[in-house]
Formats: sequence, structure tokens, C-alpha cells
Amino acid sequence: MAKTPHVSRRMMLGTALAAAAASSAVAATPKTETIAIIGTGNVGTALGKRWGALGHTIVYGSRTPESEKIKLLVKSSGKKASAVTQKDAGKTATIIVMAVPAAAGIEALKALGDISGKIVIDAMNEMTFQDGKLIEPTEPEALAARLQAAAPGAFVVKALNVTSSRAMTDPAVTGGPVVVPIAGGNAEAKLRVTALLKALGLEVFDMGGADAYKHVEHLGRIYVAYGATHRPQRLEFGFRTWAPPQGR
Ligand SMILES: NC(=O)c1ccc[n+]([C@@H]2O[C@H](COP(=O)([O-])OP(=O)(O)OC[C@H]3O[C@@H](n4cnc5c(N)ncnc54)[C@H](OP(=O)(O)O)[C@@H]3O)[C@@H](O)[C@H]2O)c1
Repeated sequence: MAKTPHVSRRMMLGTALAAAAASSAVAATPKTETIAIIGTGNVGTALGKRWGALGHTIVYGSRTPESEKIKLLVKSSGKKASAVTQKDAGKTATIIVMAVPAAAGIEALKALGDISGKIVIDAMNEMTFQDGKLIEPTEPEALAARLQAAAPGAFVVKALNVTSSRAMTDPAVTGGPVVVPIAGGNAEAKLRVTALLKALGLEVFDMGGADAYKHVEHLGRIYVAYGATHRPQRLEFGFRTWAPPQGR
């Protein structure tokens, strides 16, 4: 009789540990991901080729998946790459990269259907120009927040919007480390995204939760504004950060 509560406490502890282990198994980053890339422009193709070469499964979502250009792209994106329409691209993916013009981003995300449980990397920058200069977007909410509202069951991580497409997949081109700020409300999602970014050779700077989307988007506007005033020069752009040692 006296043993029962003891055994029961051990069983309870075991159950709690098993639950913790199970939850860390969920949090663990798989060796390879299935990544849907919506948009096959500068960003989509750079990421797809590089992640494909690293062994990830790439599914391009394109408005013209049957075109010769996309067939060639698929061939150069690893052994497991494919291309389908944008609306079908998210079906098998665990991670979805939004790499279309921001003005089309919300509609393109909604077209994916129910993407609950999937991670969405929002690499887009809103670009409104007046007299050749970038102006602040008129929408009060960050684009990433509007994407999150459009797909409430998904986990939106803002990332890769402040770095040029070549520098994000070949940071050595800048002559030094490239730091990519990210923001998102789900810690596990940020870990999975961080692993993918580190595999590209990038350093990751976690700016915080969903309330920090706007900060990352502001940094994106610095990149876009700089690019707009330095045309037609081909711009490779990335941020570096330095933090003082603790206690100084
Ligand atoms: N370029 C950079 O270095 C850079 C860096 C950081 C962030 N960004 C941001 O990343 C996003 C993509 O930039 P990008 O330079 O790759 O653009 P891009 O070269 O113009 O490519 C965008 C792609 O999106 C698809 N697309 C175009 N119009 C669309 C529409 N109305 N509806 C749905 N899909 C459409 C097209 O792919 P399909 O023809 O296959 O459908 C197109 O190739 C933008 O939001 C940009 O602000 C760009």
C-alpha cells in the first residue's frame, strides 16, 4: 500500500519526462525539410537551388510550372525538386517561403488553402515609391502580421527580407559574415528557420516575437531604399551586427 503513491509519483514523473521528450522531438529540426517556394524570381530561385543542393526537397510554386524556364530551374535544384502551380505548392511542404511581390503576397498565401501547422517564411518587402523614393507603407500593420492573420493556424517567421538574393545564399560575396534578423511568435518555428538560414552560411539575429515583425520590415526598407537610390548598380546587401560583451 505504502508503495503505491511512490510508484505513482515515479510514473507521473516518467509521463512528464516522456511528454517533455515528445515535445522536444517535435521541436527538433529534421535533417531535411520539404520547402515550398512561392515565386520563382531572384529570391525563390537563389534559395531553391542552394537548399536543393543541400538535400532539401524543393517544391516551386509558379504561375507557369510547365514552362521551359521552370523545368531548367527544377533540374538545377537538387534531386528531389519539382514545380507545381502556386496554389498546390504548399500541400506537401512543412515550410513555405513567400517570395512574390508583396502586393500579391496575401492573395498568394490565401490561395494555398489550409496551411495550418506549417511554417511560413515571409521574405517580402513592401515597396511604395513616390518620385523615385521609397515611402512608408500606408498599412498600419506589418505585412507579416497580415499574413499571420490570413493564415492563423500557420507560424509566420519574418526573415530574409533585408538581404539581397545573392548575399543570402552566398554570404561570402559581401566579404564577411551576414546577419539575418528574424521575428516570429513561435519559438519552434524560429528554430527550424534558423537551422535553414545557418545552412546557407548566415548568422541569425532573433529580434523577438510577432511584435518585432515591424522592426525587421523597417530594416528591409533600409535595404530597399538604399537600392533604389543606387540604381542601376547591382547591389549586394546584408547587415552585420556587433554586440558588446556582457557586463560592459
Ligand atoms: N531581389 C532581392 O534581392 C530581394 C531580397 C530580399 C527580399 N526580396 C523580396 O522578395 C520578394 C521576391 O523578390 P524577387 O526579387 O525574387 O522578385 P521577382 O524576381 O520579381 O520574382 C517574384 C516572383 O513572384 C512571382 N510573381 C510575380 N508577380 C506575381 C503575382 N502578381 N502573383 C503571384 N506571383 C507573382 C513570379 O514567379 P512565377 O512567374 O514563377 O509565378 C516572379 O518570378 C519581393 O517581395 C521582394 O521585396 C527581394
